[in-house]
Amino acid sequence: MGKINQFDCEDEKLNSFLFKKAIPYQAKLLSTTTIILEKNRAIGYYSLLIDNLKISKTQFESNTSYKKKIKELISFEKRFVTTFPAIKIGRLGIDKQYKGKGLGKLIVNSIIIDAIKINNQIGCKFITVDAYQTSTQFYEKLGFKYLTTSEEKINTRIMYFELTSVIQ
Ligand SMILES: CC(C)(COP(=O)(O)OP(=O)(O)OC[C@H]1O[C@@H](n2cnc3c(N)ncnc32)[C@H](O)[C@@H]1OP(=O)(O)O)[C@@H](O)C(=O)NCCC(=O)NCCS
Repeated sequence: MGKINQFDCEDEKLNSFLFKKAIPYQAKLLSTTTIILEKNRAIGYYSLLIDNLKISKTQFESNTSYKKKIKELISFEKRFVTTFPAIKIGRLGIDKQYKGKGLGKLIVNSIIIDAIKINNQIGCKFITVDAYQTSTQFYEKLGFKYLTTSEEKINTRIMYFELTSVIQ
């Protein structure tokens, strides 16, 4: 555990979650946390939980942009569906010494998405994340899209990755 306490992704909330909340959250089935170790030292971690991506008119500037988004997500007739099953990346952090080396990309692409692909036993349309404004470009590069055109919150934006693009 000593080597986990050395972890520093330069975000106090994310560090503190790993040190203090990851285990109790897992025990209460609120989220799972996976730690990536190198020589027994934590170099990255991520937490996952079930989500329900809700799309409501109030998130959009106009009814037209709302309908456009629904049409984009559901191409068949039942467009009244406005909530979608998802898995949420609750937290993702890479130690400052390991940032910019492809570890974040590896976690999202080769660990999270591949695990969902392999375990394709339940309906799940999206991976979602409340992305920090400072990390939205990282998620964009991995193929995540913005739910709305405008910003819902000051610090974060809801982004989603469509699993139909990798699961046939
Ligand atoms: C954001 C974070 C997870 C990215 O992980 P990382 O391992 O440093 O990223 P990678 O090296 O895998 O980068 C993958 C690509 O995204 C780009 N990228 C990474 N972080 C970026 C950022 N903050 N802004 C813009 N682009 C970024 C990289 O340049 C790279 O581009 P390339 O494929 O064209 O070379 C990591 O920097 C981190 O822990 N940040 C602090 C906590 C945080 O913001 N977590 C996200 C919470 S929602």
